[in-house]
Amino acid sequence: MDESDRRRLSVSAVDVTEGREDEFHDLSKAFQTILERKGYGGFGTFRDEAVPTRYYAVRQWSGAAAADACHRDVEVQGLTSRLYKIARVTHVVNGARRPDPLRLMLDDRRTGGVEPDRRAGFDRRVTNRENPGDERRSHRDRRLGPRRLRAPAAPVDLVAAARRAREHADAAFSRFKVGAALEAADGAVMTGCNIENATYGLTMCAERVAIFKALSEGHRVFTRIAIVVDSERPTPPCGACRQVLWEFGGNLEVHLANMHEHKGVHQLKDLLPLPFDARLL
Ligand code: THU
Repeated sequence: MDESDRRRLSVSAVDVTEGREDEFHDLSKAFQTILERKGYGGFGTFRDEAVPTRYYAVRQWSGAAAADACHRDVEVQGLTSRLYKIARVTHVVNGARRPDPLRLMLDDRRTGGVEPDRRAGFDRRVTNRENPGDERRSHRDRRLGPRRLRAPAAPVDLVAAARRAREHADAAFSRFKVGAALEAADGAVMTGCNIENATYGLTMCAERVAIFKALSEGHRVFTRIAIVVDSERPTPPCGACRQVLWEFGGNLEVHLANMHEHKGVHQLKDLLPLPFDARLL
């Protein structure tokens, strides 16, 4: 094992729902016990000094294989799904990540290396092997594309995350605050809010803040985005955001909501028909 393998760290920011801190501490102990007992590595939590309900969960893996085994461990998965019910988990450092074939394929596609399929964004197989006839599967039966490759431990409340992110919006000029929460294929959630600028043109939308944050942390495969505003009419992403989301996120599910209700869900391909993207270069 080389030195870099031995020192792999994963760090997650864990925002615990108020009143559930005791459960979180119990779960942390259980994580620590399993990780040590099964030789996966060490585990510790650190409280954020500025935000009382935020913790950082640090895992120091014994090695890449141990990190892999831990992610596949059903006992660990059980604890993780309990954690997702009481906290929002944002992966800050993913020391267990391996180059995965799916990500490589998408990267490849951005540089034009994969056969183009213009039907529905980047997340479709070219042929439907299970159902070679023309009939399309619908709803849950549809198993095409990365966003259905792995079910998350528990559905994350993306809209709630977007509402929280909206609190940080800096909309001094328009007073129109927007929050966004983007989910990656591994369940990580990255949030964003709009940030305005006195030279109006430098304003950045919530959706692009979220996806640029995600990309800069190494995420490359995405499933859903929620966008929240405080208005009765939902706000679909602007044209620039549709383009960026499409190029990096493919055919995302786009959930629109306001402060008290969910207003609808769209597929990005329907919001951006006839898209321009790397396959045309
Ligand atoms: N805005 C977003 O953050 N996302 C959108 O999809 C539409 C618009 C922001 C940009 C600007 O700060 C304010 O809303 C008014 O346009």
